[in-house]
Amino acid sequence: MASHTLTLISISAILLLTYTIIQQLLRRRAAAQFARSHGCQPAPAYPQPERLIGLALIKESKARSAKREVLELFRERCDRMGPTWTMGMLGGHFVFSIDPENIQAVLAKNFKDWGLGQREHTWGPLLGKGIFTTDGAQWEHSRAIVRPNFVKSQIVSLGMFERHIQELIQKIPKDGSTVDLQTLFFNMTLDSSTEFLFGESIESQLTFEGSDAEKFSEAFDFAQHQMPGRNRMGNLVRFIPDRKFDEACKIVQDWGDRYVAKALKNLAAEKAEKDDDTKERYTFMREMASQTPDPIQLRNEVLNILLAGRDTTAGLLSNLFHALARNPRVWQKLKAEIDTLEGRIPDYDCLRNMHYLKWVLNESLRLYPPVPTNARISNKDTVLPRGGGSSGQMPVFVPKDTIFLYSVYSMHRRTDIYGADALEFKPERWSPDAPGGPLRPHWGFLPFNGGPRICVGQQYALTEASYTIVRLLQTFGELENRDPKGWVEGYGLTLCSGDGTKVALKLR
Ligand code: HEM
Repeated sequence: MASHTLTLISISAILLLTYTIIQQLLRRRAAAQFARSHGCQPAPAYPQPERLIGLALIKESKARSAKREVLELFRERCDRMGPTWTMGMLGGHFVFSIDPENIQAVLAKNFKDWGLGQREHTWGPLLGKGIFTTDGAQWEHSRAIVRPNFVKSQIVSLGMFERHIQELIQKIPKDGSTVDLQTLFFNMTLDSSTEFLFGESIESQLTFEGSDAEKFSEAFDFAQHQMPGRNRMGNLVRFIPDRKFDEACKIVQDWGDRYVAKALKNLAAEKAEKDDDTKERYTFMREMASQTPDPIQLRNEVLNILLAGRDTTAGLLSNLFHALARNPRVWQKLKAEIDTLEGRIPDYDCLRNMHYLKWVLNESLRLYPPVPTNARISNKDTVLPRGGGSSGQMPVFVPKDTIFLYSVYSMHRRTDIYGADALEFKPERWSPDAPGGPLRPHWGFLPFNGGPRICVGQQYALTEASYTIVRLLQTFGELENRDPKGWVEGYGLTLCSGDGTKVALKLR
Protein backbone atom coordinates (compact mmCIF):
# COMPACT_ATOMS: atom_id res chain seq x y z
CA MET A 1 0.00 0.00 0.00
CA ALA A 2 2.81 2.36 1.07
CA SER A 3 4.83 1.63 -2.09
CA HIS A 4 1.68 2.21 -4.21
CA THR A 5 1.25 5.69 -2.62
CA LEU A 6 4.94 6.41 -3.16
CA THR A 7 4.64 5.50 -6.87
CA LEU A 8 1.62 7.81 -7.21
CA ILE A 9 3.52 10.69 -5.57
CA SER A 10 6.55 10.08 -7.84
CA ILE A 11 4.37 10.03 -10.99
CA SER A 12 2.62 13.26 -9.92
CA ALA A 13 5.96 14.94 -9.23
CA ILE A 14 7.32 13.88 -12.64
CA LEU A 15 4.16 15.11 -14.38
CA LEU A 16 4.34 18.45 -12.55
CA LEU A 17 8.02 18.86 -13.41
CA THR A 18 7.38 18.01 -17.08
CA TYR A 19 4.48 20.46 -17.19
CA THR A 20 6.63 23.21 -15.66
CA ILE A 21 9.51 22.57 -18.08
CA ILE A 22 7.13 22.61 -21.09
CA GLN A 23 5.54 25.82 -19.82
CA GLN A 24 8.97 27.40 -19.47
CA LEU A 25 10.03 26.30 -22.97
CA LEU A 26 6.79 27.62 -24.49
CA ARG A 27 7.23 30.90 -22.64
CA ARG A 28 10.80 31.23 -23.83
CA ARG A 29 9.77 30.50 -27.40
CA ALA A 30 6.99 33.08 -27.26
CA ALA A 31 9.39 35.62 -25.70
CA ALA A 32 12.01 34.96 -28.42
CA GLN A 33 9.37 35.42 -31.12
CA PHE A 34 8.16 38.63 -29.49
CA ALA A 35 11.75 39.93 -29.27
CA ARG A 36 12.45 39.00 -32.93
CA SER A 37 9.26 40.63 -34.16
CA HIS A 38 10.36 43.90 -32.50
CA GLY A 39 13.93 43.66 -33.85
CA CYS A 40 15.37 43.46 -30.31
CA GLN A 41 19.02 42.95 -29.44
CA PRO A 42 20.40 42.40 -25.93
CA ALA A 43 21.62 45.39 -23.93
CA PRO A 44 25.14 45.13 -22.47
CA ALA A 45 25.30 43.13 -19.23
CA TYR A 46 27.18 44.67 -16.31
CA PRO A 47 30.23 42.47 -15.57
CA GLN A 48 29.40 40.55 -12.39
CA PRO A 49 31.04 37.47 -10.85
CA GLU A 50 27.50 36.09 -10.41
CA ARG A 51 24.09 37.52 -11.32
CA LEU A 52 21.81 35.62 -8.96
CA ILE A 53 22.50 37.45 -5.69
CA GLY A 54 24.67 40.19 -7.15
CA LEU A 55 26.74 40.25 -3.97
CA ALA A 56 29.59 42.25 -5.52
CA LEU A 57 27.21 45.04 -6.61
CA ILE A 58 25.43 45.07 -3.26
CA LYS A 59 28.74 45.33 -1.37
CA GLU A 60 29.96 48.12 -3.63
CA SER A 61 26.68 50.06 -3.25
CA LYS A 62 26.81 49.68 0.53
CA ALA A 63 30.39 50.94 0.71
CA ARG A 64 29.69 53.96 -1.51
CA SER A 65 26.44 54.69 0.28
CA ALA A 66 28.40 54.91 3.56
CA LYS A 67 30.57 57.55 1.87
CA ARG A 68 27.43 59.31 0.61
CA GLU A 69 28.39 58.63 -2.98
CA VAL A 70 25.76 56.20 -4.16
CA LEU A 71 24.39 58.54 -6.86
CA GLU A 72 27.91 59.09 -8.17
CA LEU A 73 28.43 55.31 -8.20
CA PHE A 74 25.42 54.91 -10.54
CA ARG A 75 26.85 57.67 -12.74
CA GLU A 76 30.26 55.99 -12.90
CA ARG A 77 28.58 52.72 -13.87
CA CYS A 78 26.85 54.53 -16.75
CA ASP A 79 30.16 56.11 -17.81
CA ARG A 80 31.56 52.59 -18.00
CA MET A 81 28.57 50.85 -19.60
CA GLY A 82 26.68 53.48 -21.62
CA PRO A 83 23.14 54.74 -21.08
CA THR A 84 21.36 51.36 -20.85
CA TRP A 85 22.58 48.07 -19.37
CA THR A 86 21.37 45.07 -17.40
CA MET A 87 22.34 43.45 -14.12
CA GLY A 88 21.16 40.68 -11.81
CA MET A 89 20.54 41.13 -8.08
CA LEU A 90 18.58 39.40 -5.31
CA GLY A 91 17.15 36.92 -7.80
CA GLY A 92 15.77 39.73 -9.97
CA HIS A 93 16.55 40.97 -13.48
CA PHE A 94 17.28 44.72 -13.70
CA VAL A 95 17.59 47.17 -16.58
CA PHE A 96 19.30 50.42 -15.66
CA SER A 97 18.85 53.39 -17.97
CA ILE A 98 19.54 57.10 -18.29
CA ASP A 99 18.28 57.25 -21.87
CA PRO A 100 15.41 59.78 -22.20
CA GLU A 101 13.79 57.64 -24.95
CA ASN A 102 13.64 54.59 -22.69
CA ILE A 103 12.39 56.56 -19.71
CA GLN A 104 9.67 58.11 -21.87
CA ALA A 105 8.66 54.64 -23.11
CA VAL A 106 8.29 53.35 -19.54
CA LEU A 107 6.55 56.39 -18.06
CA ALA A 108 4.37 57.41 -20.99
CA LYS A 109 4.34 55.52 -24.29
CA ASN A 110 4.10 52.03 -22.75
CA PHE A 111 2.71 53.20 -19.40
CA LYS A 112 0.31 50.26 -19.09
CA ASP A 113 3.17 47.72 -19.33
CA TRP A 114 4.72 48.97 -16.09
CA GLY A 115 3.78 49.26 -12.42
CA LEU A 116 5.24 50.36 -9.09
CA GLY A 117 6.08 46.84 -7.87
CA GLN A 118 6.34 46.47 -4.12
CA ARG A 119 5.54 50.06 -3.13
CA GLU A 120 2.13 49.19 -1.75
CA HIS A 121 3.63 46.55 0.59
CA THR A 122 6.68 48.52 1.67
CA TRP A 123 4.94 51.86 2.13
CA GLY A 124 1.41 50.62 2.79
CA PRO A 125 1.66 50.38 6.60
CA LEU A 126 2.37 54.13 6.73
CA LEU A 127 0.43 55.50 3.78
CA GLY A 128 -2.25 52.88 3.06
CA LYS A 129 -3.65 52.71 -0.48
CA GLY A 130 -3.47 56.11 -2.11
CA ILE A 131 -2.25 58.03 -5.13
CA PHE A 132 1.43 57.39 -4.38
CA THR A 133 1.25 53.70 -3.54
CA THR A 134 -1.23 52.08 -5.92
CA ASP A 135 -1.42 51.06 -9.57
CA GLY A 136 -4.14 50.38 -12.13
CA ALA A 137 -7.78 51.18 -11.50
CA GLN A 138 -7.19 52.05 -7.86
CA TRP A 139 -4.52 54.64 -8.76
CA GLU A 140 -6.77 56.07 -11.53
CA HIS A 141 -9.50 56.55 -8.94
CA SER A 142 -7.09 58.27 -6.50
CA ARG A 143 -5.66 60.50 -9.22
CA ALA A 144 -9.17 61.50 -10.33
CA ILE A 145 -10.04 62.60 -6.80
CA VAL A 146 -6.75 64.31 -5.98
CA ARG A 147 -5.89 66.15 -9.19
CA PRO A 148 -8.80 68.62 -9.38
CA ASN A 149 -7.78 69.92 -5.96
CA PHE A 150 -4.39 70.87 -7.31
CA VAL A 151 -5.98 72.95 -10.00
CA LYS A 152 -7.97 74.54 -7.21
CA SER A 153 -4.74 74.90 -5.28
CA GLN A 154 -4.19 78.00 -7.41
CA ILE A 155 -6.61 79.62 -5.00
CA VAL A 156 -4.32 78.85 -2.06
CA SER A 157 -3.39 82.35 -1.13
CA LEU A 158 0.25 83.35 -1.17
CA GLY A 159 -0.60 84.85 2.23
CA MET A 160 -0.42 81.32 3.65
CA PHE A 161 3.21 81.05 2.49
CA GLU A 162 3.93 84.59 3.70
CA ARG A 163 3.05 83.69 7.29
CA HIS A 164 5.33 80.64 7.32
CA ILE A 165 8.18 82.49 5.62
CA GLN A 166 7.98 85.29 8.19
CA GLU A 167 8.31 82.63 10.90
CA LEU A 168 11.37 81.23 9.08
CA ILE A 169 12.90 84.71 8.80
CA GLN A 170 12.47 85.11 12.57
CA LYS A 171 14.67 82.05 13.06
CA ILE A 172 17.56 83.39 10.97
CA PRO A 173 20.24 85.08 13.12
CA LYS A 174 20.68 88.78 12.33
CA ASP A 175 24.15 89.04 13.93
CA GLY A 176 26.01 87.21 11.17
CA SER A 177 26.24 83.88 12.99
CA THR A 178 25.94 80.61 11.08
CA VAL A 179 22.56 79.00 10.45
CA ASP A 180 21.60 75.74 8.77
CA LEU A 181 18.89 76.86 6.37
CA GLN A 182 18.10 73.25 5.49
CA THR A 183 16.66 72.52 8.96
CA LEU A 184 14.55 75.68 8.71
CA PHE A 185 13.25 74.77 5.24
CA PHE A 186 12.18 71.31 6.41
CA ASN A 187 10.19 72.86 9.26
CA MET A 188 8.68 75.52 7.02
CA THR A 189 7.46 73.03 4.39
CA LEU A 190 6.03 70.82 7.12
CA ASP A 191 4.06 73.79 8.44
CA SER A 192 2.84 74.97 5.05
CA SER A 193 1.96 71.52 3.73
CA THR A 194 0.02 70.55 6.87
CA GLU A 195 -1.87 73.84 6.65
CA PHE A 196 -2.58 73.26 2.96
CA LEU A 197 -3.67 69.64 3.44
CA PHE A 198 -5.25 69.47 6.91
CA GLY A 199 -6.46 73.06 7.09
CA GLU A 200 -4.33 73.63 10.20
CA SER A 201 -0.58 74.04 10.39
CA ILE A 202 1.42 71.81 12.66
CA GLU A 203 3.39 74.97 13.62
CA SER A 204 6.76 73.29 13.99
CA GLN A 205 8.38 76.72 13.71
CA LEU A 206 6.52 78.01 16.76
CA THR A 207 5.68 76.32 20.07
CA PHE A 208 6.19 72.70 19.31
CA GLU A 209 8.25 70.89 21.92
CA GLY A 210 6.44 68.14 23.80
CA SER A 211 3.24 68.64 21.78
CA ASP A 212 1.24 65.98 19.93
CA ALA A 213 2.29 67.74 16.74
CA GLU A 214 5.93 67.06 17.58
CA LYS A 215 5.13 63.39 18.20
CA PHE A 216 3.40 63.21 14.82
CA SER A 217 6.31 64.92 13.08
CA GLU A 218 8.90 62.63 14.69
CA ALA A 219 6.86 59.52 13.89
CA PHE A 220 6.38 60.64 10.27
CA ASP A 221 10.11 61.32 9.85
CA PHE A 222 11.08 58.06 11.52
CA ALA A 223 8.71 55.96 9.40
CA GLN A 224 9.85 57.71 6.21
CA HIS A 225 13.48 57.03 6.99
CA GLN A 226 12.73 53.31 7.20
CA MET A 227 11.42 53.32 3.64
CA PRO A 228 14.68 52.96 1.69
CA GLY A 229 15.57 49.88 3.80
CA ARG A 230 12.07 48.46 3.37
CA ASN A 231 12.27 49.05 -0.38
CA ARG A 232 15.52 47.07 -0.49
CA MET A 233 13.90 44.15 1.35
CA GLY A 234 11.16 44.01 -1.30
CA ASN A 235 8.70 41.17 -0.78
CA LEU A 236 10.45 39.92 2.37
CA VAL A 237 9.35 43.03 4.25
CA ARG A 238 5.96 41.46 4.95
CA PHE A 239 7.54 38.71 7.03
CA ILE A 240 9.90 40.82 9.16
CA PRO A 241 8.25 42.32 12.25
CA ASP A 242 9.22 45.91 13.16
CA ARG A 243 7.46 47.13 16.28
CA LYS A 244 8.96 50.64 16.30
CA PHE A 245 7.94 51.18 12.68
CA ASP A 246 4.40 49.90 13.36
CA GLU A 247 4.07 52.24 16.35
CA ALA A 248 5.23 55.23 14.30
CA CYS A 249 2.70 54.38 11.56
CA LYS A 250 -0.07 54.22 14.13
CA ILE A 251 0.79 57.68 15.53
CA VAL A 252 0.77 59.13 12.01
CA GLN A 253 -2.50 57.47 11.02
CA ASP A 254 -4.27 58.41 14.26
CA TRP A 255 -3.22 62.01 13.65
CA GLY A 256 -4.60 61.88 10.12
CA ASP A 257 -7.85 60.31 11.35
CA ARG A 258 -8.43 63.18 13.77
CA TYR A 259 -8.31 65.74 10.95
CA VAL A 260 -10.47 63.63 8.67
CA ALA A 261 -13.14 63.33 11.37
CA LYS A 262 -13.03 67.10 11.84
CA ALA A 263 -13.30 67.78 8.09
CA LEU A 264 -16.27 65.42 7.74
CA LYS A 265 -17.98 66.99 10.75
CA ASN A 266 -17.46 70.53 9.43
CA LEU A 267 -18.73 69.51 6.04
CA ALA A 268 -21.90 68.05 7.52
CA ALA A 269 -22.43 71.25 9.54
CA GLU A 270 -21.89 73.41 6.44
CA LYS A 271 -24.41 71.39 4.49
CA ALA A 272 -26.91 71.81 7.28
CA GLU A 273 -26.34 75.58 7.15
CA LYS A 274 -26.73 75.48 3.36
CA ASP A 275 -23.73 77.77 3.19
CA ASP A 276 -22.15 77.63 -0.23
CA ASP A 277 -19.46 80.25 0.25
CA THR A 278 -16.81 77.54 -0.22
CA LYS A 279 -14.07 79.65 -1.73
CA GLU A 280 -13.65 81.62 1.45
CA ARG A 281 -13.11 78.51 3.49
CA TYR A 282 -11.28 76.32 0.99
CA THR A 283 -9.12 73.60 2.46
CA PHE A 284 -7.77 70.61 0.63
CA MET A 285 -9.19 68.11 3.11
CA ARG A 286 -12.61 69.74 2.99
CA GLU A 287 -12.70 69.64 -0.82
CA MET A 288 -11.64 66.00 -0.83
CA ALA A 289 -14.23 65.17 1.82
CA SER A 290 -16.95 66.64 -0.35
CA GLN A 291 -16.00 64.12 -3.09
CA THR A 292 -15.07 61.08 -0.99
CA PRO A 293 -16.78 60.54 2.31
CA ASP A 294 -14.67 57.38 2.99
CA PRO A 295 -12.54 58.40 6.01
CA ILE A 296 -9.81 55.80 5.38
CA GLN A 297 -9.33 56.85 1.78
CA LEU A 298 -9.31 60.50 2.81
CA ARG A 299 -6.64 59.89 5.42
CA ASN A 300 -4.54 57.80 3.03
CA GLU A 301 -4.65 60.34 0.21
CA VAL A 302 -3.65 63.20 2.45
CA LEU A 303 -0.73 61.25 3.97
CA ASN A 304 0.37 60.14 0.48
CA ILE A 305 0.47 63.78 -0.62
CA LEU A 306 2.22 64.95 2.54
CA LEU A 307 4.96 62.40 1.93
CA ALA A 308 5.25 63.31 -1.75
CA GLY A 309 5.33 67.05 -1.21
CA ARG A 310 7.08 68.04 1.99
CA ASP A 311 10.68 66.77 1.78
CA THR A 312 10.91 67.30 -1.98
CA THR A 313 10.20 71.03 -1.73
CA ALA A 314 12.47 71.42 1.31
CA GLY A 315 15.21 69.51 -0.58
CA LEU A 316 14.87 71.82 -3.58
CA LEU A 317 15.26 74.95 -1.42
CA SER A 318 18.17 73.52 0.59
CA ASN A 319 20.16 72.45 -2.46
CA LEU A 320 19.38 75.70 -4.25
CA PHE A 321 20.65 77.89 -1.38
CA HIS A 322 23.66 75.57 -1.03
CA ALA A 323 24.49 76.39 -4.65
CA LEU A 324 23.71 80.13 -4.27
CA ALA A 325 26.07 80.39 -1.30
CA ARG A 326 28.88 79.18 -3.58
CA ASN A 327 27.91 81.31 -6.58
CA PRO A 328 27.90 85.01 -5.59
CA ARG A 329 27.53 86.03 -9.25
CA VAL A 330 24.23 84.13 -9.50
CA TRP A 331 23.06 85.55 -6.16
CA GLN A 332 23.69 89.11 -7.40
CA LYS A 333 21.87 88.52 -10.70
CA LEU A 334 18.92 86.96 -8.94
CA LYS A 335 18.81 89.84 -6.47
CA ALA A 336 18.83 92.33 -9.36
CA GLU A 337 15.82 90.62 -10.93
CA ILE A 338 13.96 90.53 -7.61
CA ASP A 339 14.80 94.21 -7.02
CA THR A 340 12.70 95.13 -10.05
CA LEU A 341 9.74 94.52 -7.68
CA GLU A 342 11.00 97.46 -5.58
CA GLY A 343 10.15 95.58 -2.41
CA ARG A 344 6.55 94.75 -3.38
CA ILE A 345 5.23 91.36 -2.27
CA PRO A 346 4.99 89.23 -5.43
CA ASP A 347 1.75 87.81 -6.78
CA TYR A 348 1.41 84.80 -9.12
CA ASP A 349 1.98 86.88 -12.25
CA CYS A 350 5.14 88.48 -10.87
CA LEU A 351 6.56 85.07 -10.01
CA ARG A 352 5.72 83.71 -13.44
CA ASN A 353 7.51 86.60 -15.15
CA MET A 354 10.83 86.19 -13.31
CA HIS A 355 12.93 84.44 -15.90
CA TYR A 356 16.23 84.30 -14.07
CA LEU A 357 14.48 82.87 -11.00
CA LYS A 358 13.01 80.16 -13.23
CA TRP A 359 16.46 79.29 -14.63
CA VAL A 360 17.94 79.13 -11.12
CA LEU A 361 15.17 76.73 -10.09
CA ASN A 362 15.69 74.63 -13.22
CA GLU A 363 19.43 74.49 -12.65
CA SER A 364 19.01 73.33 -9.05
CA LEU A 365 16.41 70.73 -10.10
CA ARG A 366 18.81 69.56 -12.80
CA LEU A 367 21.93 69.10 -10.66
CA TYR A 368 20.12 68.08 -7.47
CA PRO A 369 16.78 66.53 -8.44
CA PRO A 370 14.80 65.92 -5.21
CA VAL A 371 13.74 62.50 -6.58
CA PRO A 372 17.10 61.40 -8.02
CA THR A 373 16.37 57.77 -8.85
CA ASN A 374 13.19 55.83 -9.39
CA ALA A 375 11.97 52.41 -10.52
CA ARG A 376 9.16 50.60 -12.28
CA ILE A 377 8.49 46.88 -12.78
CA SER A 378 7.20 45.34 -16.01
CA ASN A 379 3.84 43.60 -15.65
CA LYS A 380 4.17 41.86 -19.07
CA ASP A 381 6.79 41.21 -21.75
CA THR A 382 7.59 44.55 -23.31
CA VAL A 383 10.23 46.53 -25.22
CA LEU A 384 12.53 49.47 -24.61
CA PRO A 385 13.16 51.46 -27.78
CA ARG A 386 16.97 51.78 -27.37
CA GLY A 387 20.08 50.29 -25.82
CA GLY A 388 20.41 46.96 -27.67
CA GLY A 389 23.11 45.60 -29.98
CA SER A 390 26.66 46.85 -30.49
CA SER A 391 25.40 50.30 -31.58
CA GLY A 392 23.16 50.61 -28.52
CA GLN A 393 20.46 51.87 -30.90
CA MET A 394 18.37 48.70 -31.21
CA PRO A 395 15.24 47.95 -29.15
CA VAL A 396 15.71 45.80 -26.05
CA PHE A 397 13.39 42.95 -25.06
CA VAL A 398 12.20 43.23 -21.44
CA PRO A 399 10.61 40.13 -19.88
CA LYS A 400 7.74 40.42 -17.41
CA ASP A 401 8.87 41.20 -13.82
CA THR A 402 11.98 43.12 -14.88
CA ILE A 403 12.90 46.05 -12.65
CA PHE A 404 13.60 49.23 -14.62
CA LEU A 405 15.84 51.57 -12.62
CA TYR A 406 16.42 55.09 -13.86
CA SER A 407 18.61 57.82 -12.47
CA VAL A 408 17.40 61.32 -13.22
CA TYR A 409 20.47 62.55 -11.30
CA SER A 410 22.84 60.87 -13.80
CA MET A 411 20.72 61.78 -16.84
CA HIS A 412 20.72 65.46 -15.78
CA ARG A 413 24.54 65.37 -15.73
CA ARG A 414 24.99 63.93 -19.23
CA THR A 415 27.46 66.08 -21.17
CA ASP A 416 25.91 65.05 -24.50
CA ILE A 417 22.61 66.61 -23.36
CA TYR A 418 23.83 69.59 -21.30
CA GLY A 419 27.27 70.28 -22.76
CA ALA A 420 30.84 69.94 -21.51
CA ASP A 421 30.04 72.15 -18.49
CA ALA A 422 27.16 69.89 -17.39
CA LEU A 423 28.54 69.58 -13.84
CA GLU A 424 28.61 73.34 -13.30
CA PHE A 425 25.80 75.38 -11.72
CA LYS A 426 24.98 77.79 -14.58
CA PRO A 427 21.39 79.06 -14.72
CA GLU A 428 22.20 80.91 -17.97
CA ARG A 429 22.20 77.61 -19.84
CA TRP A 430 18.35 77.82 -19.68
CA SER A 431 18.28 81.18 -21.47
CA PRO A 432 16.75 81.14 -24.98
CA ASP A 433 19.83 83.19 -26.01
CA ALA A 434 22.36 80.70 -24.58
CA PRO A 435 25.38 80.16 -26.82
CA GLY A 436 24.65 77.09 -28.96
CA GLY A 437 20.92 77.83 -28.97
CA PRO A 438 18.12 77.23 -26.50
CA LEU A 439 18.33 74.07 -24.42
CA ARG A 440 15.60 71.58 -25.35
CA PRO A 441 16.26 68.46 -23.30
CA HIS A 442 12.62 67.19 -23.49
CA TRP A 443 12.60 63.90 -21.56
CA GLY A 444 16.23 64.51 -20.63
CA PHE A 445 15.02 66.97 -17.95
CA LEU A 446 12.67 65.16 -15.61
CA PRO A 447 12.59 66.50 -12.05
CA PHE A 448 8.82 66.02 -11.75
CA ASN A 449 8.57 62.78 -13.74
CA GLY A 450 6.45 62.58 -16.89
CA GLY A 451 3.46 60.78 -18.38
CA PRO A 452 0.21 59.99 -16.58
CA ARG A 453 1.94 59.90 -13.16
CA ILE A 454 3.62 63.29 -13.50
CA CYS A 455 3.85 65.10 -10.15
CA VAL A 456 0.50 66.65 -9.33
CA GLY A 457 2.11 69.16 -6.98
CA GLN A 458 4.56 70.65 -9.51
CA GLN A 459 2.94 74.12 -9.72
CA TYR A 460 2.32 74.23 -5.99
CA ALA A 461 5.99 73.33 -5.30
CA LEU A 462 7.39 75.84 -7.79
CA THR A 463 5.14 78.57 -6.41
CA GLU A 464 6.17 77.86 -2.81
CA ALA A 465 9.87 77.69 -3.72
CA SER A 466 9.75 80.85 -5.90
CA TYR A 467 7.85 82.82 -3.27
CA THR A 468 10.30 81.72 -0.53
CA ILE A 469 13.31 82.75 -2.61
CA VAL A 470 11.87 86.14 -3.50
CA ARG A 471 10.89 86.97 0.08
CA LEU A 472 14.28 85.85 1.45
CA LEU A 473 16.19 87.96 -1.07
CA GLN A 474 13.95 90.92 -0.39
CA THR A 475 14.90 90.60 3.29
CA PHE A 476 18.57 89.68 3.12
CA GLY A 477 21.08 91.39 0.83
CA GLU A 478 24.07 89.14 1.42
CA LEU A 479 24.60 85.42 1.66
CA GLU A 480 27.86 83.98 2.89
CA ASN A 481 28.94 80.36 2.68
CA ARG A 482 29.95 78.92 6.08
CA ASP A 483 30.87 75.42 4.97
CA PRO A 484 34.22 74.93 3.23
CA LYS A 485 33.27 71.50 1.91
CA GLY A 486 31.51 70.79 -1.36
CA TRP A 487 28.07 69.27 -1.82
CA VAL A 488 27.52 65.67 -0.70
CA GLU A 489 24.35 63.70 -1.18
CA GLY A 490 21.79 63.46 1.61
CA TYR A 491 19.89 60.67 -0.06
CA GLY A 492 17.08 58.81 1.69
CA LEU A 493 13.73 58.79 -0.03
CA THR A 494 14.50 62.20 -1.48
CA LEU A 495 17.66 64.20 -2.05
CA CYS A 496 18.85 67.03 0.14
CA SER A 497 22.29 68.37 1.02
CA GLY A 498 24.15 65.78 3.12
CA ASP A 499 25.84 68.41 5.33
CA GLY A 500 22.95 70.87 5.40
CA THR A 501 23.01 74.45 4.11
CA LYS A 502 25.29 76.34 6.50
CA VAL A 503 25.34 80.03 5.70
CA ALA A 504 25.21 83.49 7.24
CA LEU A 505 22.77 86.15 6.01
CA LYS A 506 22.91 89.92 6.32
CA LEU A 507 19.79 92.09 6.40
CA ARG A 508 19.44 94.68 3.64
C1 HEM B 1 10.32 70.27 -5.80
C2 HEM B 1 9.32 69.57 -5.34
C3 HEM B 1 8.82 68.29 -5.94
C4 HEM B 1 9.43 67.40 -6.77
C5 HEM B 1 10.83 67.48 -7.36
C6 HEM B 1 8.50 66.33 -7.01
C7 HEM B 1 8.76 65.24 -7.82
C8 HEM B 1 7.88 64.20 -8.02
C9 HEM B 1 8.18 63.01 -8.78
C10 HEM B 1 9.50 62.72 -9.46
C11 HEM B 1 7.08 62.23 -8.75
C12 HEM B 1 6.92 60.85 -9.39
C13 HEM B 1 7.11 59.76 -8.39
C14 HEM B 1 6.86 58.40 -8.97
O1 HEM B 1 6.00 58.24 -9.83
O2 HEM B 1 7.51 57.45 -8.58
C15 HEM B 1 6.07 62.92 -7.99
C16 HEM B 1 4.81 62.43 -7.75
C17 HEM B 1 3.91 63.05 -6.94
N1 HEM B 1 4.04 64.29 -6.33
FE1 HEM B 1 5.63 65.50 -6.45
N2 HEM B 1 7.34 66.59 -6.34
C18 HEM B 1 7.49 67.77 -5.67
C19 HEM B 1 6.57 68.40 -4.88
C20 HEM B 1 5.30 67.96 -4.66
C21 HEM B 1 4.31 68.66 -3.88
C22 HEM B 1 4.52 70.01 -3.19
C23 HEM B 1 3.21 67.86 -3.84
C24 HEM B 1 1.91 68.08 -3.16
C25 HEM B 1 1.65 69.03 -2.30
C26 HEM B 1 3.51 66.68 -4.64
C27 HEM B 1 2.64 65.63 -4.85
C28 HEM B 1 2.91 64.53 -5.62
C29 HEM B 1 2.01 63.40 -5.75
C30 HEM B 1 0.65 63.25 -5.09
C31 HEM B 1 2.63 62.48 -6.59
C32 HEM B 1 2.09 61.13 -7.06
C33 HEM B 1 1.45 61.29 -8.43
C34 HEM B 1 0.97 59.97 -9.02
O3 HEM B 1 1.58 58.94 -8.79
O4 HEM B 1 -0.04 60.03 -9.72
N3 HEM B 1 4.77 66.78 -5.12
N4 HEM B 1 6.57 64.13 -7.54
